[in-house]
This record gives sequence, C-alpha cells and structure tokens, in this order.
Amino acid sequence: MPLLTRIDHIGIACRDLDRSIARYESAFGLSLAAREVNEEQGVEEAMLVVAGPVDGRAADGGGSYVQLLRPLAEDTPVGRFLARRGEGVHHVGYGVSDVAAALAELADQGLRLVDRRPRHGSLGAAIAFVHPGDLGGVLTELVQARPPAGVTGG
Ligand code: CO
Repeated sequence: MPLLTRIDHIGIACRDLDRSIARYESAFGLSLAAREVNEEQGVEEAMLVVAGPVDGRAADGGGSYVQLLRPLAEDTPVGRFLARRGEGVHHVGYGVSDVAAALAELADQGLRLVDRRPRHGSLGAAIAFVHPGDLGGVLTELVQARPPAGVTGG
C-alpha cells in the first residue's frame, strides 16, 4: 500500500491574504474552510476546499484544499521564500494514514526530515515536513487528517 493516500493541499505563498482568498473564491468558486494563525510556522493561512472530506473520495477521511500562506514576518520560512522567489507554490501536502509511521519509514530510507516528530497543522491535522533536497526541490508535507467527529482511536 502506498505511503501517500491523496493530495491534501497545495501550499501557496502570497503577500496579501485577503486578495488571494478573493481571487480563488471568484476565479474557481472555492469556499473558505478555515483561516488561522500558526505562530509556530510564522504564517497566517487560509484553507479553501477543493474536495471536502464528506464526499467519500478520500479513504483516510481527509479532503483536498488550496492553502494560502501569508508570512507573519520577513524572518520566517515563508517570508524568506517570498523575498527569494516571490509568490508561488511553496510546498505540496500529501495525505498519510499515520504521520509518525510515515516519518519513521522515510527516515529508514535515508530521506532528510525537517520535522522528526509530528506537529499541529491546519484543520486539526498532525503534520510533518520532509526536506526538499531529496525530493526534487519540492518541500513536502505529510498530513494526517483529524478523524471525523465521533471517530476515535486509529
Ligand atoms: Co501545508
């Protein structure tokens, strides 16, 4: 069974979060699922739904989203990315059924990890980043979706 279960989101760095949200809403008809500040990652972010977790397409209970990222300061990972490369795709997030197990598997294979253990991500997910150096320059995020309400364990 593949380690990755779906494409969870595309993370896009932007300078003006309100403008970017409005563009994705009007151009593509997407709706905002959540907007939150993640101090640990130094971003304010917005998740726009492409396919919701209720449509039954994702075996692991997750959905698929566009994630818009605005840095809280210049001296943050996304702030440095914007200064160096401008607006654009910052990372790709993939669904996994168990983020800790996925990290252990990738570490066994010798891939460089940004995060050794899971941390808190959007929409209550547990997430971890894998270094772009071993993945063709693509910063890669593993996303274990929060279980749907009423589901425990696993
Ligand atoms: Co992300």
